[in-house]
Amino acid sequence: MDLGFKGKVAVVTGASKGIGYAVAKEFLKEGATVVISARNEDGVKKAVEELSEFGKIFGYALDGNSQENMNILAEKAASITGSIDAWVNNIGTNKKRSGKFYTEDELDYIISTCYKSCVYGCQAVFPYMKENGGAIVNISSLASHAATAIRSNIYASMKAAVNGYTRTVASEYAPYNIRVNAVLPGYTETPLLMGGFSQNQLNELLRNNILGRLAQPEEIAKPVVFLSSPGASYITASEIEVTGGHVKVLNAWESFVQNK
Ligand SMILES: NC(=O)c1ccc[n+]([C@@H]2O[C@H](COP(=O)([O-])OP(=O)(O)OC[C@H]3O[C@@H](n4cnc5c(N)ncnc54)[C@H](OP(=O)(O)O)[C@@H]3O)[C@@H](O)[C@H]2O)c1
Repeated sequence: MDLGFKGKVAVVTGASKGIGYAVAKEFLKEGATVVISARNEDGVKKAVEELSEFGKIFGYALDGNSQENMNILAEKAASITGSIDAWVNNIGTNKKRSGKFYTEDELDYIISTCYKSCVYGCQAVFPYMKENGGAIVNISSLASHAATAIRSNIYASMKAAVNGYTRTVASEYAPYNIRVNAVLPGYTETPLLMGGFSQNQLNELLRNNILGRLAQPEEIAKPVVFLSSPGASYITASEIEVTGGHVKVLNAWESFVQNK
């Protein structure tokens, strides 16, 4: 299916690996010119080299936890055609706290990475979408609806803040023909997830997953790209769960045992 991205510009923040990388690849396969960012310069270079095989891509090593840097990213992306058609705020982290409570620095880091970067991105792209319209997708998390105990209270609340921000900014930008949605991935096989959970913990979590498995990054990327496309023209201010039905039923694993 042609999603209508030929000749269009799409930006994905935090895209040197994981879900962002997969989103960038899907946009390229759809014919968009893609601009990505991440902090580590070598990581950005490697991603650009690998993804060039699928189309035209530019990468910038920038810390997205700053309005100034997001503005630079938007300016560079807009210099390609004069406007930006799709923008994905993907940056996020679930950094563990060092003790029982968060230090001020730990707290600030999670708030900036999960929430402020999303606000900065939405603000930075606005001048380049307001004439021709466009679509923004904010990558939230299943944790904003159903978090794991102990390890994710600030992460979960910041992702819930992303959901709330998405609804309100969708209303604010609607007069400019800009749609804004949130995608809530479930447990997805990326460096972030695999670095944070043991296999035993993941097996326990998957007992409550209707599909009984982790997502692959491409399975999150495809809905993100669809939501960014004209085919999703009546979808805005939505929270789209892409979770394999996680915690929609408890003990979902029993279906697999009984039906085999
Ligand atoms: N994986 C999951 O199971 C899962 C589930 C729900 C939601 N999510 C959300 O999905 C998004 C992507 O997660 P992921 O699992 O793909 O993460 P990941 O594997 O850690 O990849 C994160 C990407 O973002 C970049 N990044 C991180 N902080 C940045 C910053 N301050 N400025 C610029 N770039 C930054 C990283 O590169 P550098 O380190 O070089 O900057 C990397 O390219 C996050 O918002 C996460 O919360 C993930």
